[in-house]
Amino acid sequence: MIAWPSISDSLLRAADILDPQGGSLGDAEWWKPNPDPTVTDKERWLIDKRTGDYDRDEQTGLPLIKGRARRKQRPPEGDDWFVWLVLAGRGFGKTRTGIEWLNREARLAKSGEQFLLAGRTPADVHDYALYGPGGLITHHPDIDVTKRTLTWPNGVQALIRSGANPEEFRGFSGTRALLEEFAAWQYAQEAWNNLSLGMREGDPRIGIMTTPRDKEVLRSIIKMPGTRKVGGSSLENSANLADKYRTNVIDPLMGTRLGRREVLAEMLADVEGALWKQAMIDGLRVDRRDVPQLKRVVVGVDPQGKKKGTTDEEGRADAETGIVAAGLGVDEHVYVLEDASVDGTPAEWGVCTVGVYDRQRADRVAGERNFGGDMVEHVVRTVRKNISYEDANASRGKQRRAEPVAALYEQGRVHHVTRDREVGNEFAALESEMTSWTPDSDRSPNRMDALVWAVSLLVPQGEPQRKKQAGVW
Ligand SMILES: Nc1ncnc2c1ncn2[C@@H]1O[C@H](COP(=O)(O)OP(=O)(O)O)[C@@H](O)[C@H]1O
Ligand SMILES: [Mg+2]
Repeated sequence: MIAWPSISDSLLRAADILDPQGGSLGDAEWWKPNPDPTVTDKERWLIDKRTGDYDRDEQTGLPLIKGRARRKQRPPEGDDWFVWLVLAGRGFGKTRTGIEWLNREARLAKSGEQFLLAGRTPADVHDYALYGPGGLITHHPDIDVTKRTLTWPNGVQALIRSGANPEEFRGFSGTRALLEEFAAWQYAQEAWNNLSLGMREGDPRIGIMTTPRDKEVLRSIIKMPGTRKVGGSSLENSANLADKYRTNVIDPLMGTRLGRREVLAEMLADVEGALWKQAMIDGLRVDRRDVPQLKRVVVGVDPQGKKKGTTDEEGRADAETGIVAAGLGVDEHVYVLEDASVDGTPAEWGVCTVGVYDRQRADRVAGERNFGGDMVEHVVRTVRKNISYEDANASRGKQRRAEPVAALYEQGRVHHVTRDREVGNEFAALESEMTSWTPDSDRSPNRMDALVWAVSLLVPQGEPQRKKQAGVW
């Protein structure tokens, strides 16, 4: 029999926030099917309406159950499954779903059983899976965290691992593993190989919680006979998300390719012919603390076109002014530091550009001299008179400009720098443009252009040098 911990103050605080109906959060049982697993969500909503127990999401009509696991947040029925794969949008409650499952399994397990909890990087595990709003320790503070081991009061332990060090998964042989944001791991395939080979004790189970990415390893897991896949959109958890998050992060993504992936959690295949592949960008991502000293920092600016007010993704990509900062490290690699693109008047994006310039301690602003004018220079100098400005060379076509930059990525020389932020990948919009633009499309994604201006200035490609041949003249 398991001795449940007494309800500590912090648990009570969590209870106020999470369970407005006032259920007992002291025992791990609260994350349970409610009220009756046999009723469908639709029926349940009708029940909810009658009892006033639940809310309904205005946009989707889906039932929102506060403080309790929603249907999709509970592990698959039966015990013939090996992998529970939750492919869901940002803010769906993936982290929470995973940690509540792991917690419950641990409290039901025998002392001596070994579990594993892994995230993209050690910092991600700490900031999100353990101490984030959906994190394990946030909701179950009686679990001890010592170095890289979690210990439940009953003695069950979980090792903490990260997708940045796939070798560390070798040798683990346990019964439960939870993999957080798996599709974003740099060495997802290698880690998976090492981990899955070790899951041979008792009746092993793996929970994978992730926003989707088109990766071979994910596709192969989906195809496994023991995999139970659940898809979910961010909107299903609206009741538990800040209104600000909904209006500022989720809503603007609706109807875009990025939104299809990050909110609705569709697994979008790479666009044929695109210069960049998502896996290539993901594989090169680095944490802020791993950025070396920078020799130069450039802010690339690509002003918005006239299509303001268009609502489709293409129109929108051109209704923003791309503002992207990148730096050249002493290792000759390029570090993409910030995407501060905005939809605004010239005065607004001018201020924004100077803000990034100061924040990133940039040396130069680079923009295109377009339509025969010097629009970007003029706008930026209106805000800061003596800013260092350089015209980017726009004489070449878009493809000829973008290709050398894509080639630098292929050589492994361009890294998108992650800041510790709960919102996730802050370059998602930029990367969406990069991975969906093809040289034969006539539109002009401005974030991507701003990146190209910045990187081309940091690593000049120049026109191919022609050797002077004697006697040609
Ligand atoms: N069923 C639920 N009831 C109450 N709060 C929830 C529920 N599911 C998720 N949450 C909360 O919603 C927020 C977002 O969840 P999180 O797991 O961080 O989302 P994701 O990992 O999908 O981005 C967290 O504060 C989490 O505790
Ligand atoms: Mg999460």
